[in-house]
Amino acid sequence: MEVVSTIAELRARLSHQSAIAFVPTMGNLHEGHLELIRRARGLGDCVVASIFVNPLQFGPNEDFDRYPRTLENDSAKLQGLADVVFAPSVSEVYPEQQKVYVELPAIADELEGASRPGHFRGMATVVLKLFNMVQPQVVLFGKKDYQQLHIIRQMVAQLNLPVNIVGINTVRAADGLALSSRNQYLSQLERNEAVFLYQMLKEMRQALLQGEQDVEGLRLQAIDRLSGRGWSVDYVDVRNRSDFLPLGKAGSDLTQRDWVVLAAARLGNTRLLDNVEI
Ligand code: PAJ
Repeated sequence: MEVVSTIAELRARLSHQSAIAFVPTMGNLHEGHLELIRRARGLGDCVVASIFVNPLQFGPNEDFDRYPRTLENDSAKLQGLADVVFAPSVSEVYPEQQKVYVELPAIADELEGASRPGHFRGMATVVLKLFNMVQPQVVLFGKKDYQQLHIIRQMVAQLNLPVNIVGINTVRAADGLALSSRNQYLSQLERNEAVFLYQMLKEMRQALLQGEQDVEGLRLQAIDRLSGRGWSVDYVDVRNRSDFLPLGKAGSDLTQRDWVVLAAARLGNTRLLDNVEI
C-alpha cells in the first residue's frame, strides 16, 4: 500500500490502472469505512481510499477544527485493504479560493441541508474534484449518509459522470448504533442513550408496515419522544428512496414504492444521524 499526498503522485501511481474502485472518506476510520473498502476489492483491480477533511462542507459553527485527524492510525488500518491512500493537504485540493461549485437540486436544501446550509454543495464539489483526480470506474458510499448518496447519484446521472455508484448498508455497533466518527464525542451516558435514535426509527418502520396511516402523527410523536429524553431534534421524516419526496399518507403509497425513514438529532453537542429503509 502506498500513501500519496499530491495529485501528481496520485496520477503517476494510477496512470496504468484500468479498473479503479474508490472510497472517499474524511478519515478517522472505523469498521463502517473499512467495510466500504473491503467491498471495493471485489469491484476493481486497484482500490483507492482518500482521506481528506473537506473545509468546504463544514459550516462556520461546525466541527471542522476539532474533526479528528488520525492519518497514521488510518494508514495502519488500511494496510492490506487499500492499494493507494490519497491524503492531500487543504492547499493541494484548494490551491486558490474555490469559485466553481456544483449547483444542486432543491433536495440539497432539505433535511441535512436545512440544518447545514451549504453542506451538500461543498460535499458534492469536493467529491467531483476527487472523481477527477482519481478517475475511478466504481465509487462506494455508505447508506448511513442516505441523502448524501442520493445527491451523489443525481450529480453522477445529470452530469453524465462515467462512474458507477455503489451504496453499502450501514455498519452498526453491537447495540445497533450506527458507527460514526462523531460517536467518540459522546460521554458514557450519552453513548448509552444514543442507540435510542435507531430504535425509534425501527419502531416507526414497524408502525408504518402495520398499517399506520398518520405519517405526520408518527413524525411528531417521534420528535416528542426524543425531545423528552433530552435530544434536540433537527428532523424526523419519511422520504421516497428514489426521488426523496415525502410520504404523505401511508397505505397504497407505502406498498407501491420504496421508502426510508431518516432522522438527525443532537445529544449534548454531538449531532447524530441515522435512517432505516422500509
Ligand atoms: P465520512 O463521514 O468519512 O464517510 C465516508 C464514507 O463512509 C461515506 O460514504 C459514509 O456514508 C460511509 N460511512 C460512514 N459511516 C458508515 C457506517 N456506519 N456504515 C457504512 N458506511 C459508513 O461522507 C463523508 O466522509 C464525506 O462527506 C465525503 C463523501 C468523504 C466527502 O468529503
